[in-house]
Amino acid sequence: MGFTLPERGVVLGVASLVLKEGATVDAALAVVRAAVGAGVLAIDTARAYATVDDDAAGERIAQAARAQRPGIPIITKAGHFRVARAAWDVDGSAERVRADALRSREVLGAPPSLLLLHRADRVDDLDASVHELATLREEGVVEAIGLSNASIELLDRARAITTIDAVENRYAFGLDPADEYRYCRGAGIPFLAYAPFGGPKAEPLATRVPRVAALAMSRGDSVHRSALAAMLDAMPGAWPVIGSTRVESVLDSIGAADLAVDDSLRQAFADDLASRGVGL
Ligand SMILES: NC(=O)c1ccc[n+]([C@@H]2O[C@H](COP(=O)([O-])OP(=O)(O)OC[C@H]3O[C@@H](n4cnc5c(N)ncnc54)[C@H](OP(=O)(O)O)[C@@H]3O)[C@@H](O)[C@H]2O)c1
Repeated sequence: MGFTLPERGVVLGVASLVLKEGATVDAALAVVRAAVGAGVLAIDTARAYATVDDDAAGERIAQAARAQRPGIPIITKAGHFRVARAAWDVDGSAERVRADALRSREVLGAPPSLLLLHRADRVDDLDASVHELATLREEGVVEAIGLSNASIELLDRARAITTIDAVENRYAFGLDPADEYRYCRGAGIPFLAYAPFGGPKAEPLATRVPRVAALAMSRGDSVHRSALAAMLDAMPGAWPVIGSTRVESVLDSIGAADLAVDDSLRQAFADDLASRGVGL
């Protein structure tokens, strides 16, 4: 079946909507509703986006998007989980991946559109876990499978075992090189670029993409929207996974899909990345 998204657009991740200090379900649902209304392409969640009381808090919030738009893809992840108020653990073993996949299907009431091995970089026996993912896909427990936080070496190993439907790695503007994106582009694998702004604790985006920021300011656009638009233009086959916790910021970011990208913005983005040593 594989995993596909429309050519251009933004995916909303719900990590901060669950994990941020003071997060409430009502506030999270308001952001998800606004995002779905504005045309977000998919919702990204994980078993790890849990509260101490609810192991499926993130998946329930993601599921709410389906009430508004049936069929919206829901991406979830296995093998990383919350164990206490401030503690998470990793177990990407085949047994845990199966148990997590079954739990995700139960909570979502349907097979997840895409199940990712959350910490592919921290699995003892990657081959066994990838075999299990392939079996889960074959059984219809999940629709598609992929790896998250995977190096090119790990992707090569996994692809020697089975078809990998998608990859989700961090791709923060001005911080991360595009090696895994290029690899996925070459292999025809959708690349989900998480935390494009560097996450909630990163230094201000404008300091990492100053040329884009100056141009955006002169045009009355936001730097976040302009940088995302430039990314969508420069990186076909990549979809940013953003983590807004406010209606205002989620709408601003989703609007990137409709922002026209001209040569000045294209060049500003390329120069900003190149000057940080992470050119495309
Ligand atoms: N696979 C993995 O291992 C993994 C790891 C980390 C994250 N992720 C996924 O990636 C998603 C995004 O990650 P993230 O939240 O860390 O990174 P992010 O999207 O790069 O950063 C989120 C920060 O950007 C701000 N922001 C977003 N849009 C904005 C706008 N238009 N204007 C101004 N500020 C804006 C948010 O502000 P506000 O909160 O104020 O809106 C928040 O502080 C997560 O929810 C999760 O689904 C996956």
